[in-house]
Amino acid sequence: MKTDIINESVIEVRGLVAGYGRTKALDDISFSLEKGLIHAVIGTSGCGKTTLLKNMLGLMQYKSGSVKVLGTEINDQTAVAVNKVRERTGVLFQRGALLNSMTVAENVALPFLLHRNMEPSAVTTEVEMLLKQVGLSGAGKKMPTELSGGMIKRAALARALAIKPEILFCDEPSAGLDPVTTRGIDELLLSLRKETGMTVVIVTHDLDSISRIADRVLFLSNRSLLFHGTAADAINSSLEPIQAFFRREAAC
Ligand SMILES: Nc1ncnc2c1ncn2[C@@H]1O[C@H](COP(=O)(O)OP(=O)(O)O)[C@@H](O)[C@H]1O
Ligand SMILES: [Mg+2]
Repeated sequence: MKTDIINESVIEVRGLVAGYGRTKALDDISFSLEKGLIHAVIGTSGCGKTTLLKNMLGLMQYKSGSVKVLGTEINDQTAVAVNKVRERTGVLFQRGALLNSMTVAENVALPFLLHRNMEPSAVTTEVEMLLKQVGLSGAGKKMPTELSGGMIKRAALARALAIKPEILFCDEPSAGLDPVTTRGIDELLLSLRKETGMTVVIVTHDLDSISRIADRVLFLSNRSLLFHGTAADAINSSLEPIQAFFRREAAC
């Protein structure tokens, strides 16, 4: 189920130019992301989706333009100020979901140890609640190597949710998962968004996921933002790179 439009924006990007060394991966990108919606960032491999995420997360310095997350201009800030914004956002990375030497519960407890000064018993209670929220009750004592791909993503999601993020960033959460497991992750994201009202920014190339969960689609092509609108309008777009993407052809 999708929410109604709420106009308050949580992320404002204006004239963003970003890249690696002298190479531009993103050139003059502008958009605003509305609070409480699920925004899918799409486009063929190498189009700059992860780079865009990294710039919104303060993980790289952009060359010019402005990236405001929850009202904070990311580039201008000290590490302390960027950390304050990070404490209000959760991230589910494409790879490196869990630390293999720790149990699932210890992995999920990490944000509490890093960001919060909490009693161990309170941490245990929180971790149990989080695991229940993502459908992993009872899996806390397992090691990551004992989990299926879908369960690892759920555990990583529980860890990302520990700080009760206002914005959740996910980079290809369904990469390598089968369609049934992908659907499960999508349904989980929808129910979490409904429960918490958080904004979700998700990089995905899964066409079923896009139509299931995306309230808005941002289509990157050739370093630019080619389209920003509803998933239905994206699917019906007359722009060739978007048509090609939905036909599953390389467009970048
Ligand atoms: N660490 C890096 N150093 C140099 N170039 C990079 C780096 N990461 C990505 N790139 C380049 O930037 C462009 C965008 O990459 P990326 O944001 O990872 O794309 P996507 O996530 O859409 O597949 C690509 O041309 C890629 O080769
Ligand atoms: Mg990527």
